[in-house]
Amino acid sequence: MIRQKQAYIETFGCQMNDRDSEIMGQLLTESSYLLTSKMSEADVVIINTCSIRGKAEEKAFSLLGRLKKKKQKKPSLIVAIAGCVAQQEGNKIFERMPHIDLVLGPQSIYRLPELLKDLEKNKHNKTATEQSTSFSIPAFLPSLKDNLIPHKKFVTIMQGCNNFCTYCVVPYTRGREVSRKLEDILAEVSHLAAKGIKEITLLGQNVNSYGLEKTGELPPGGTSFPDLLRAVAGIEGVARLRFTTSNPKDLSEDLMCCFTELDNLCPHFHLPVQSGSNDVLKKMNRKYTIESYLEKVAKLRGYSPGIAITTDIIVGFPGETENDFEATMDLLEKIRFHGLFSFKYSDRPHTRSNEFSDKVPEEIKSKRLARLQSRQEEINMERNLEYVGQTLKIMVEGASKSAEGQWSGRTGSNHIVNFNGHSNLRPGQILEVTIDEACLHSLRGTLI
Ligand code: 5AD
Ligand code: SF4
Repeated sequence: MIRQKQAYIETFGCQMNDRDSEIMGQLLTESSYLLTSKMSEADVVIINTCSIRGKAEEKAFSLLGRLKKKKQKKPSLIVAIAGCVAQQEGNKIFERMPHIDLVLGPQSIYRLPELLKDLEKNKHNKTATEQSTSFSIPAFLPSLKDNLIPHKKFVTIMQGCNNFCTYCVVPYTRGREVSRKLEDILAEVSHLAAKGIKEITLLGQNVNSYGLEKTGELPPGGTSFPDLLRAVAGIEGVARLRFTTSNPKDLSEDLMCCFTELDNLCPHFHLPVQSGSNDVLKKMNRKYTIESYLEKVAKLRGYSPGIAITTDIIVGFPGETENDFEATMDLLEKIRFHGLFSFKYSDRPHTRSNEFSDKVPEEIKSKRLARLQSRQEEINMERNLEYVGQTLKIMVEGASKSAEGQWSGRTGSNHIVNFNGHSNLRPGQILEVTIDEACLHSLRGTLI
C-alpha cells in the first residue's frame, strides 16, 4: 500500500496568516496530502511566518533552524517557509538556511500544490514571491467536514496595505491593497452560514478602505465597507458579525451608523491609535491627530453607547520623548479602552523609521511599556466591574480554559464570560447570563 504523504503547518502571526494556513491545508488535502499535527511524521513542513516585529521573525527563524537537523536525518523532507518573512527575505534566505526548499509569499499560497509537485520531480530550491499589481484574491470556498463545523470563522475581504505607516513592514510583505470581489465574499459567507457557522469576522489590514484601492474613492456602482457590512449582516444565519482592522483616519460616520442599524454587528471596535502624541503620530505617518481620534471615539459612542473600544499602542517610537509618552498615558485616561495590545517599537527592514536616528534605548522602552500595561490593567479591571449585575447575551465558545468544569462564552463586546452550564450546550448557542464577578481577563456569570 502506498503511504499517503503527510504535511505539517505551523503558523505565527495574525488572523490573516491563520486563514492563509487554512487555505494551504485545504489545498494540500485536495491534492492528496494528509495533514498531521506531528511535525516528526511530516514529509512536508510549512512554517507560515510573521515579520511584524523582530521577535516574531526570530521565532520563525529559530524553528526553521531546528529543522536543519531533522532534514539531515531525513533528506527527503521538504521544508517550506511561507508568509511575511518569506516575502521579505525571498531568495536571500537560501544563503542563511540552505536546508529550505521553498519560499512562498502570501500572494503565492494558491500555487503550493503545483510547487510541491515540481519539487518532488526536481529537488531544487524554489522561490514564489512575485507581487503582481493585477493580483486578485481567488474565490475559494472553505471545505468543512460535517462533524467538525466550528461556530465562528474569518473571511478575508481584502489584503495588503497602501498606508505606509513609517514603522510597518506590512506594505512590503503583503503588497498593495487588493479588495476581494463582493460576490465571492457573499458566496463564502452564505456557504459558511448554511453550514451552521454563527459568527463571521471580516478580515483585512485596513477594512475601511475596502473597494477604494484604485483611486482612493469608490468607483461608480462600487460597494463601500459599510455597505458590505450591511450585505453580510443580512445573510441568513449570521448571528454575529465582527471585523478587523481599521485605520482611524478612514473611520466614516456611515460605518458608525452600522452599529445602530445592524442588530448582529457586535459592539466592539478595534481602533489602533499607536500613540497619544501628535508629534509621534506625524512621524508615524498615521494621517490623523489625537483630537480627531477623540472626536471619532465620542461620535462612535454616540451611535453605540457601551461599545467596547480596544487599541494597539507602540511605545518607544524613534524620537518619543517623556512628554510624548505622557500624552499616551493621558489618552488611556481620556478613552478608558476596554483592552490594549501594546508593543515596544521594533526596527523592521524596508521601513522608513528604520532609518530614523533618534532611537529610544531598550531599557526606556521596557519601562514605558511596563507603566502603560500596568495602568491599562487597572482600567481593564474597572471596565470589567462595570458589567457586574448586567444581563448579557453570550455566544457559547466551549469548555472554559481557566475554570475547570465551567463553560466559556463571549459577549458581543468580546469579553470572555465563564459560567456553570448543563452538559448539552453547543458552541455557537446564544444564551443570557447575569454577570456576578469581574476578573482581570474575564467575567464570571450565572446562566438565566
Ligand atoms: N514595532 C512595534 N510594533 C509594531 N506594530 C506594527 N509594526 C510595529 C513595529 N515596527 C504593531 C502596531 C500594529 C500591530 C499589529 O503591531 O501596533 O497595530
Ligand atoms: Fe505579521 Fe503583519 Fe504579516 Fe500578519 S500581515 S503575519 S501581522 S507581518
